[in-house]
Amino acid sequence: MNDHEVYEISTSFPFGRMDASTSATYLRALIGNSPIAIIALDAQHRYTMCNPAFERLFQYTSKELFSEDLDYLIAGPEMMEEARDLSRRVLQGDKVHTVTQRRRRDGMIVDVELYGIPLVVDGELAGVYGLYQDVTERNKAQTAFRAISDQMDNLQQEERRRIARDLHDSTSQELTVLNWNLARLNALVTDKDEALQRLVQETREIASQCSARIRSASYLLHPPLLGEGGLTRALPWLVEGFEQRSGIQVGLEMSANLGRFRDGVEIAIFRVVQESLTNVLRHSGSAVVQIALRCDEDWLLLSISDEGAEQGGPAVSHEKRMYGVGVSGMRERVEKLGGCFSIDGTKGGTTVMVTIPRNMGVHG
Ligand SMILES: Nc1ncnc2c1ncn2[C@@H]1O[C@H](COP(=O)(O)OP(=O)(O)OP(=O)(O)O)[C@@H](O)[C@H]1O
Ligand SMILES: [Mg+2]
Repeated sequence: MNDHEVYEISTSFPFGRMDASTSATYLRALIGNSPIAIIALDAQHRYTMCNPAFERLFQYTSKELFSEDLDYLIAGPEMMEEARDLSRRVLQGDKVHTVTQRRRRDGMIVDVELYGIPLVVDGELAGVYGLYQDVTERNKAQTAFRAISDQMDNLQQEERRRIARDLHDSTSQELTVLNWNLARLNALVTDKDEALQRLVQETREIASQCSARIRSASYLLHPPLLGEGGLTRALPWLVEGFEQRSGIQVGLEMSANLGRFRDGVEIAIFRVVQESLTNVLRHSGSAVVQIALRCDEDWLLLSISDEGAEQGGPAVSHEKRMYGVGVSGMRERVEKLGGCFSIDGTKGGTTVMVTIPRNMGVHG
């Protein structure tokens, strides 16, 4: 809202075609029944009126509000400076909006979403409205949701690790034995029986392909190279496997000084590259993709760009796109680490950009 809108409100909104007394009745009913706590102060920041929702939220009566300074009553010493600053700004004619905390009469702290609105009449500041919405429950729900999402993430990591280990320890070992037995069988087949020889040979090839696939699936579920050598070892391995499977040419550039980062960061980067490469293969039609991973003193910067479909495929505007699990999962991982995620595309290709603050735990 700008100054002009503030002026509109004070003269004709919302009951422009009613006479003054009907307008006042409407306005009183609106403020009186609003679930949002509303207080009005004059241009000297003195109490004018408040609605029942304000009395319910802060537990002060009109009488108490008349005789005491509002900031002193509901901000308390801890939040006094911030409250004074907000009041100053609204009295200067700025509209303010923030999420903060205030104190009830019984001392309990509540999370509030607060709007401070200057009331301008005939170009002069006549007073201010303070609107407070109790968001304590909403914040609690958000915190609980984040905790559950963290737990799910840990469980998922644990489950992936278990499946990877099981694949490696059982199926993969059995396939090794199968390969070994087929090699022995091959040695027993006589030169004369060509058809049988060919069959054994083909079966050996299928078994060794299965073995390689299982091994690669197990590594992708829980990349052991990431733990051992960090991104400088795990990313080239991921890229090489992707190139072989897809036929797409990948350029990988990494800063020479790339060190180790705490597990969360390395896994996040690895998974973003993995999902972005899968998206390039599934959606882009591009024959090449370029990955750059750099770090400076403060940031870790990752970009993955493809060149879109060669023959002017469909324009990929990501602005209004509904994303699947892939993009929202990447964004969530990165934002959880205090970073930023973006995806942007045109006919000329799609670019995924990630920045993560370095201070999220560099060890080494
Ligand atoms: N590199 C790309 N080139 C073209 N389109 C892309 C690219 N990456 C993503 N998209 C578009 O963005 C959409 C969302 O991607 P996202 O990874 O979230 O979902 P998905 O790949 O369709 O399914 P999944 O949830 O299994 O990953 C895709 O369906 C695709 O239309
Ligand atoms: Mg995807």
